[in-house]
Amino acid sequence: MTGLHIPDHPVVADRLTRMRDVKTTPSEFRVILKSLAPFLVYEAARGLPTELKEVVTPCGRAKGKLLTQRVVLFPILRAGLGLLDGALQVFPEARVGFIGAYRDETTFQPVEYHRSGPKDLRDCAVFVLDPMLATGGSAVFAINKVKEMGAVAIRLVSVLAAPMGVDAMHKAHPDVPIVVAAVDPELNEKMYIVPGLGDAGDRFFGT
Ligand code: PRP
Ligand code: URA
Repeated sequence: MTGLHIPDHPVVADRLTRMRDVKTTPSEFRVILKSLAPFLVYEAARGLPTELKEVVTPCGRAKGKLLTQRVVLFPILRAGLGLLDGALQVFPEARVGFIGAYRDETTFQPVEYHRSGPKDLRDCAVFVLDPMLATGGSAVFAINKVKEMGAVAIRLVSVLAAPMGVDAMHKAHPDVPIVVAAVDPELNEKMYIVPGLGDAGDRFFGT
């Protein structure tokens, strides 16, 4: 799985429209983002490797499949936390790492302030979670970091992207598929996605 994936689903469209609405309160925003996240993570999970497994049911034997890679979720703080609960609904067994990075208000470059999580990501399926892919600086940076930790099977799960962010990701990490609910036309002079939904972290945390 590579490239850009935009799920064509009425529930995804509904949730995104509600999140965009300036009248949506932080508590509503949290609930909506939590309910959107599983749809995006489900889409990003396509193509995960599986192995055949036979199990004994109460009524017989069934041939099935099990995922072979351990799943690690990497929300980019702060706003990526908004996708975490929903992602854990899809992968309750996942391990969770964190990359704390904020975008400098003048240079728009990511500034890292925290990193924790499993040290060795070599045999893992890594899902980087960040609702906004604007210039792409934060996502490119975070994926550089998980690659330094050995990750090779990486997916980026976002809610909204701008063409600049998608291009930056394709250039820096062509191997990493991106799942996003929509790609908006442009960025404004403060590098916010337009029409977008505003500052995802501020809307989620009510700051
Ligand atoms: C936001 C968002 C992304 C980043 C996207 O984080 O959550 O991490 O901006 O912008 P980029 O693609 O241009 O890097 P922000 O810096 O506002 O920090 P926050 O999540 O703590 O609010
Ligand atoms: N970060 C956000 O939270 N929103 C944007 O539109 C761009 C970056």
